[in-house]
Amino acid sequence: MALLELKNVTKEFGGLVAVNQVSLEIDSGEFVGIVGPNGSGKTTLFNVINGVFFPEKGNIIFDGVDITRLPPFKRAPLGIGRTFQIPRPFSSATVRENVAVGAMFGTLSKKVNVDDSLEIADQIIDRIGLHEYTGKQAGTLTPVEKKLMEIARALAMKPKLLLMDEAMAGMHPNDIDQMVDLIKKIALEEKIAIVSMVEHIMRAVVGMVEKVIVLHQGSKIVDAPTKEALEDPKVIEVYLGHPPEETHAVS
Ligand SMILES: Nc1ncnc2c1ncn2[C@@H]1O[C@H](COP(=O)(O)OP(=O)(O)OP(=O)(O)O)[C@@H](O)[C@H]1O
Ligand SMILES: [Mg+2]
Repeated sequence: MALLELKNVTKEFGGLVAVNQVSLEIDSGEFVGIVGPNGSGKTTLFNVINGVFFPEKGNIIFDGVDITRLPPFKRAPLGIGRTFQIPRPFSSATVRENVAVGAMFGTLSKKVNVDDSLEIADQIIDRIGLHEYTGKQAGTLTPVEKKLMEIARALAMKPKLLLMDEAMAGMHPNDIDQMVDLIKKIALEEKIAIVSMVEHIMRAVVGMVEKVIVLHQGSKIVDAPTKEALEDPKVIEVYLGHPPEETHAVS
């Protein structure tokens, strides 16, 4: 059984169909990339998977449970973690406290107290290499540091599925490669399935993901092993006749 299953999921905003009848399966521990031009529905798809929006049509099954109508705070303890395209830190709290919040509301939420959560935060902060920032107010971090903190906070949730929305956008290519290696290592150890949005960081796709799902105008047009997906004529057409990695430099 797949860890996550979407069956014909549709999300509309007024007359605009942002996600159009998308069906997909993500297995436990799988690494999947979501690709698609601006406005193709990637963030909306994440929002529907983690419960920010409910779909008008279709069903979402996670770990055998129909979560279609569950709010985000009930999905997080089941094991769905995410990072946001635009980071949303608790600005006046420290990095350590921000990351600890992940532990408090994730899969361990019923098992950990504040001290345990801070301890989990310390471990993750060490692994992600954020220790020099741990006591800093989150609001004072640079955008890239905030993205790293988001990754740490999502990992502190000890998720079964981690949705990463452009988590590495803006980072230096060398740092992206390092971060991809690190996340992959952590995910393998902890059996976390990762669905990563890779629109602006195509170089990371090949290194990280086993499978690529391509969205175009809200519809899924390709769902295939990475190499096959990136060579698919439909994908090349969506990217205006250029392979995706040539179209998007690291932004
Ligand atoms: N809250 C909202 N209200 C109305 N329309 C929305 C909302 N969120 C997204 N949309 C619209 O839905 C479509 C899909 O947007 P979405 O943000 O999911 O795309 P995306 O693939 O993440 O794009 P990007 O690469 O720019 O991040 C767009 O046309 C967008 O304008
Ligand atoms: Mg987006």
